[in-house]
Amino acid sequence: MKKIILGENAEVLPTLPEAFARVIYMDPPFNTGQVQKRDRIRVRATDGAGERGGFGGRRYDVERVESGSYDDDFEDFEGFLMPRIEASLRCLTSDGSLFVHLDYREVHHIKVALDRLLGRRRFINEIIWAYDYGGRPKNRWPAKHDTILWYAMKPADYVFNYDAMDRIPYMAPGLVGKEKAERGKTPTDVWWHTIVPTHGREKTGYPTQKPLGVLHRVVKVHSRPGDVVLDFFAGSGTTGESAARHGRGFVLVDNNPEAVQIAATRLAFARPECVGFARRRAARGKDPLKVPELHPRPSTGPLPRPLPTNTPDS
Ligand SMILES: C[S@@+](CC[C@H](N)C(=O)[O-])C[C@H]1O[C@@H](n2cnc3c(N)ncnc32)[C@H](O)[C@@H]1O
Repeated sequence: MKKIILGENAEVLPTLPEAFARVIYMDPPFNTGQVQKRDRIRVRATDGAGERGGFGGRRYDVERVESGSYDDDFEDFEGFLMPRIEASLRCLTSDGSLFVHLDYREVHHIKVALDRLLGRRRFINEIIWAYDYGGRPKNRWPAKHDTILWYAMKPADYVFNYDAMDRIPYMAPGLVGKEKAERGKTPTDVWWHTIVPTHGREKTGYPTQKPLGVLHRVVKVHSRPGDVVLDFFAGSGTTGESAARHGRGFVLVDNNPEAVQIAATRLAFARPECVGFARRRAARGKDPLKVPELHPRPSTGPLPRPLPTNTPDS
């Protein structure tokens, strides 16, 4: 199953089949109180005067390209999110896992609400995604982490592919011997990982796009090939790309027409069914959406190279 659906998730969720998804991952708006918007700058070589100079005296035109945007301001965030989570649970397999990605503004309220809904015994991990990017206010500790809550529907029987974990470098490799140092260690519940690099090939320009590396861990460790992953706050489709790259199906839902266009473009290689919209074809040089290069499929051989991480000592 490979689907991208344009629609209000509260309306779409009841129309989805029962028990089709081994994993639900969601990265809802964080209630930042702002319109989330990220414009991109497109720079093109020109024979004219051009706004910017470059190597060898070349001139470049600079154009601001509007990316998608969405409102992120809720008076009652819990009242918005919890009914949607509740409606999504029927889509999970009986041994499925739920991942809720939030930040410091709302995570504590939603944790308590989820414990109430699912029972504390289903709560398995609080994963901290730590990054180190952007401004550093001088009047408080800079907030540089998000929180991902993991709940397992069956706490005694869930998918956890330990061997599918990527390995990360030891902080003091000299202390563990050559073989261990080369193999690296398994990650903990604190995931140091860069944000989507500003000029990296995975960047789509969609505001609040999450890095593939974070989703790869969720998809590879918590589902099996052939499983389906559901993300009903899908944005640019990072969950779908990770699922497709690892031989999983995906169902992505977003109510923002720009988001589903970006997801459809980025996932064109997987030939998803587009529901409620038609994918815009990219006219060469005209389409504001950047089509990311295909990443090589992960190797099935020995352990993959460590993720690009920024560790506490980097
Ligand atoms: C934080 S973004 C998700 C970003 C995504 N994880 C990525 O990597 O690109 C949240 C998304 O939820 C969508 N959204 C917000 N409310 C929604 C609703 N009621 N139904 C469907 N989508 C919604 C927004 O349009 C936005 O794209």
